[in-house]
Amino acid sequence: MAAFSMIPLFTHPKSPEVKTKPREKMIALTFDDGPNPKTTPKLLEELQAAHVHATFFEIGKNVAQYPEITKALSDAGNDVASHTWNHIDLTTLTPISTKNEIDEAASEITKITDKNMPFYRPPKGRFDSAILKSESKEVVTWSQDTGDWATLDTETTIKYATLNPHDNEIILMHDIYPQTVAAVPAIIKNLEQRGYTLVTVSQLIENHGGFHEHQSYMKTK
Ligand code: NI
Repeated sequence: MAAFSMIPLFTHPKSPEVKTKPREKMIALTFDDGPNPKTTPKLLEELQAAHVHATFFEIGKNVAQYPEITKALSDAGNDVASHTWNHIDLTTLTPISTKNEIDEAASEITKITDKNMPFYRPPKGRFDSAILKSESKEVVTWSQDTGDWATLDTETTIKYATLNPHDNEIILMHDIYPQTVAAVPAIIKNLEQRGYTLVTVSQLIENHGGFHEHQSYMKTK
């Protein structure tokens, strides 16, 4: 009996709880550096009003200070994942400090949300092969940077978020700026009118059969 004959060459695992149509065009909105008590709750209201879920890459020390915001985001169906504890460029740290930075924020988020995301986002999107080897979680970066942190301008943030949308896109914004929060309803409306479904990073990955190499917004070992 050939023991190997039953094993398929390629498998595309799908979680049963994620109900997304395979041909839907999807974009994930992502928000970094929160939670912030002045801006994040307002953004959550906007997302809920639009029936949209997003992904938040949060800084651990902010999560520890405002756990109720992190919990509300997660309870509403958004992904909340580690953006490290102190938001230091990981390529400047020792391997052990790097691992602690990523994992301590992730643990704090899991303690509050009871969910453990299999990915994180390094500060400024900066990482190297040593960082990848030290950490079991996957890196999620982005494919469209709105530059919201630099312009602090609502119209410019809308412009860059909707400039050249494509399936599987991950858009980078920051929920700590009121100008960004003000831009989100128009961004959602624009992208939905052009046929995109706005999903969390988990849903995006799930819909594409897990993490793949050679995609600009996700790097894996
Ligand atoms: Ni950041």
